[in-house]
Amino acid sequence: MKDFKGKTAFVTGGAEGIGYFIGQMLAKQGMNVMLSDIDTKMLNSAVKTLQAEGLKVQGVPLDVTLKEEWIAAAQKTVEAFGKVHMLVGNAGVGPNGAHHTIGENNWRWVLDVNVMGLVFGGEVFIPLLKAHGEGGYILNVASMAGIQGVSYAGAYCASKAAAVSISESWRSELQKDGIVVSVLCPAFVKSRIYDSMRNRQARYGGPVSFDDLVKEKPKRAFNKELVVTGIDTDIVANRVLEGLKEEEFYIFTHPHFREMIEKLNAELISAMEKAEASPALESVPRKGVIIY
Ligand SMILES: NC(=O)c1ccc[n+]([C@@H]2O[C@H](COP(=O)([O-])OP(=O)(O)OC[C@H]3O[C@@H](n4cnc5c(N)ncnc54)[C@H](O)[C@@H]3O)[C@@H](O)[C@H]2O)c1
Repeated sequence: MKDFKGKTAFVTGGAEGIGYFIGQMLAKQGMNVMLSDIDTKMLNSAVKTLQAEGLKVQGVPLDVTLKEEWIAAAQKTVEAFGKVHMLVGNAGVGPNGAHHTIGENNWRWVLDVNVMGLVFGGEVFIPLLKAHGEGGYILNVASMAGIQGVSYAGAYCASKAAAVSISESWRSELQKDGIVVSVLCPAFVKSRIYDSMRNRQARYGGPVSFDDLVKEKPKRAFNKELVVTGIDTDIVANRVLEGLKEEEFYIFTHPHFREMIEKLNAELISAMEKAEASPALESVPRKGVIIY
């Protein structure tokens, strides 16, 4: 994206953390920004702070798991700013737990927020991005955990792998409409993600504070430690700006994860070499249609 000025962005989970800083960064580029969040108190305070900085920012309540709220939020955005050019699918939650402890309610919660939150956003906003013919941009926030799964976070990793895959599909589907797609894959960033359960809706079991969680399961304190020693959110926002300007598809923020990427690539290539050398696959043609 070369020209931000006067265009409009809609950001989910924008009340704090990575979403807030991406919203601020976009507004500083001259965009109109509609911040949305499930936490209306934090949202109102974020909007006030950014407006006091002279930025064109408004707020709208949105639980990304509820399609009717998406429709209302989109209407409010169009009323406020007219056309919409960018959707930032940032809202996300991160429950941890081993395969046998995480539980169905947390699986459904994390998939509804981190995956269906992107799906509903696409359903409601992609038609608006297409409508004006001026081109559009979608930035989905996944994670390094969406590139390579890690232990004790299967549900979160699955949701973030889905975010990467959805972005890959949308990239090729939407190219003809002049809509560029990027997927942000950070590792640890200082935020309150370790305390995500503060926002868990009643239908998934209701809110639990991190302090209560740790009283019950002291090992969880490690999750906070990893996050609070992560990189700063404003660094992530600056890196996102670079990525958007260059229209990078995967936007990475932690260069030392190159080691992980190289290991993963080597494992994939080695698996393909085994298939190439496999007697069982001798009769399978080496040529054919490849879809991606
Ligand atoms: N912090 C990290 O280390 C890290 C690393 C990789 C990816 N991420 C991703 O970055 C994104 C932002 O997370 P963060 O680190 O800023 O965490 P955060 O908890 O500080 O911010 C998340 C925001 O999303 C909002 N939110 C939660 N549930 C919502 C819902 N149902 N509908 C709308 N808003 C909702 C919260 O109120 C909060 O404002 C998430 O998708 C997260 O998975 C974070």
